[in-house]
Amino acid sequence: MTTISLYNNKGGVAKTTTAITTASCLVQRGERVLLIDLDPQANASDAAGIEVEEDASLLLELLLASSGSTPLSLGQVETLLCPSPVIGCDVIPASPALDQFAEQAAQGTNLEFRLQTILAPLRSSYDYILIDCPPSLSLLTMNALAASDYVVIPCDSSKYALTGMSNLIAKYNTIRESYNPTLEIAGILNTKVEMRVQTSRLSREKLAAYFGDLLFTSYIPKSASVEKSQYANETLLTYDRHSPALTAYQSFTEELIQRVSTKKKQQTNH
Ligand SMILES: Nc1ncnc2c1ncn2[C@@H]1O[C@H](COP(=O)(O)OP(=O)(O)OP(=O)(O)O)[C@@H](O)[C@H]1O
Ligand SMILES: [Mg+2]
Repeated sequence: MTTISLYNNKGGVAKTTTAITTASCLVQRGERVLLIDLDPQANASDAAGIEVEEDASLLLELLLASSGSTPLSLGQVETLLCPSPVIGCDVIPASPALDQFAEQAAQGTNLEFRLQTILAPLRSSYDYILIDCPPSLSLLTMNALAASDYVVIPCDSSKYALTGMSNLIAKYNTIRESYNPTLEIAGILNTKVEMRVQTSRLSREKLAAYFGDLLFTSYIPKSASVEKSQYANETLLTYDRHSPALTAYQSFTEELIQRVSTKKKQQTNH
């Protein structure tokens, strides 16, 4: 099982779109996928066709209960799983109630490792676990990064997404040192790209110059079908099979699988 967080503390850069579309592309390839929505905005849960509960969250209850001293049973964790009729994978949905996690857990122990404890019994059930993070380095995000093998950083072409990247990498390094020394950046995914627009081309050039091979070769073009598919409660796969954004997400998924398996092989050889 490979666990991948989709994270950028900048909002609106397509973390959720990437999480749901990549999940659907992995399912299309026959992979067993679990999508975890760790964002109290619950956009991924909504996109997955799951009714969001406003003030109750089984995930919040389990995060608060799993202080790490006793392992959880598969039965305890399975109660969190909801099948998504839209994506065709299992989902652990979010709720606005997740916002209370940091405050309610404040005096507890192992605060950053609660999600890792929850996921332990599910390790053999999935090939990929994708975690959609909130746009902040909250305790929820720390839990996602502590439980992940990899992080994918979606980054759009806006000036502030670009200028925020060095700060983001500094934070990633701190988290790696403090909570998860094996966490790796799988890559930076350039999203909402408009190659006809000069600033978009320039921003891609800057990302390539700064990140080199870490920048995925695949990039996601801006496409009206993305938002339309979300309004229609569908994935791009069912809404518009010919959308350039879908083709790009399919090649990104290939690239992601390749990168993750190459890195795994390198680790095994060491
Ligand atoms: N390739 C694309 N083309 C056009 N619009 C897109 C594309 N990708 C994402 N969007 C739109 O951009 C908006 C933000 O996307 P999304 O919700 O995935 O970002 P996010 O990073 O998860 O946001 P947040 O930080 O609020 O969680 C949405 O309205 C989505 O439809
Ligand atoms: Mg989101």
